[in-house]
Amino acid sequence: MTFLKVENLYKNFGSTKAVDGISFEVNRGEVFGLLGPNGAGKSTTISAISTLIPPTSGEILFEGRNIFTEENSLRQNLGVVPQDIALYPTLTGYENLNFWGNMYGLKGSGLKKRIGEVTEIIGLNGRIKERVDKYSGGMKRRLNIGAALLHNPKLLVMDEPTVGIDPQSRNHILDTVLELNRQGTTIIYTSHYMEEAEYLCSRICIMDQGRIIASGTKEQLIGLVKGKTRISLRLDKADKDMPERLRSIKGVASAELMKDEIDISGENVDIVLSEIIARVTEHGGRISSIDVRKPNLEEVFLHLTGKALRD
Ligand SMILES: Nc1ncnc2c1ncn2[C@@H]1O[C@H](COP(=O)(O)OP(=O)(O)O)[C@@H](O)[C@H]1O
Ligand SMILES: [Mg+2]
Repeated sequence: MTFLKVENLYKNFGSTKAVDGISFEVNRGEVFGLLGPNGAGKSTTISAISTLIPPTSGEILFEGRNIFTEENSLRQNLGVVPQDIALYPTLTGYENLNFWGNMYGLKGSGLKKRIGEVTEIIGLNGRIKERVDKYSGGMKRRLNIGAALLHNPKLLVMDEPTVGIDPQSRNHILDTVLELNRQGTTIIYTSHYMEEAEYLCSRICIMDQGRIIASGTKEQLIGLVKGKTRISLRLDKADKDMPERLRSIKGVASAELMKDEIDISGENVDIVLSEIIARVTEHGGRISSIDVRKPNLEEVFLHLTGKALRD
């Protein structure tokens, strides 16, 4: 039976079609990504799955049962990390976790033990007894994630958990996602950062304007664009004969000289990078920088919508 199934989901706010007829399935044990720009409808979808807002129409089934109309176990099994931080700034990290634990019906030594485990997972040991208003943005985010983990949910929903934080906290959160998944938690992860979706997700739905415009594995999505890999070689000195020499290498579809830079492209041209470098150097060329760009989800989005994922 499908773990979570979203079928023909619509949500209107007045005349705004926030979610405009989307369907997808999340399998038990995967990290499922909803990728899209601001306003795509990601948070609205997440709110409906969290039963915080009723859909205008459509169904959401958890283990085969409608989450709004049938008796089901979604609530006990769901952890939600909202896009906006939900913490009490004047309480300590520990007190916040204690509060949320009580909300889930946890108490006593069981809760105390679980707060210890969660503190370890989110990497706030040593700081958990400090007031939250002393925390950095990244620490608040991590505590916010911790609050959603106390009751050991089977399904964790994370809404853009890395927006506006330092790179160290961001990396910590990404690794936490993978570790929780390795331990068996199914995760729905929303983002407008394509590299996060690429790094984390087994399957991805790309959303725009309330609709799913493409879905599949990262490889399937990238396969939608006949993407070419591009290599830029910066040379110490321009050599107008170099592009022609490089074009004779099998796998190089084009090579053009622009000032002191040669732009090379081909479907998998990175495979022959060492040959390219050898050809340049054996003709006396000296390379000062190399940049390799493989097709990515950003290009998939551009290809499908004609606009950039990030504004
Ligand atoms: N409570 C609301 N009232 C009115 N409009 C809303 C509300 N929530 C979201 N919207 C609108 O719905 C669209 C989708 O928003 P949202 O789901 O927050 O997108 P995302 O999370 O992908 O940025 C946007 O146009 C947004 O302004
Ligand atoms: Mg959002």
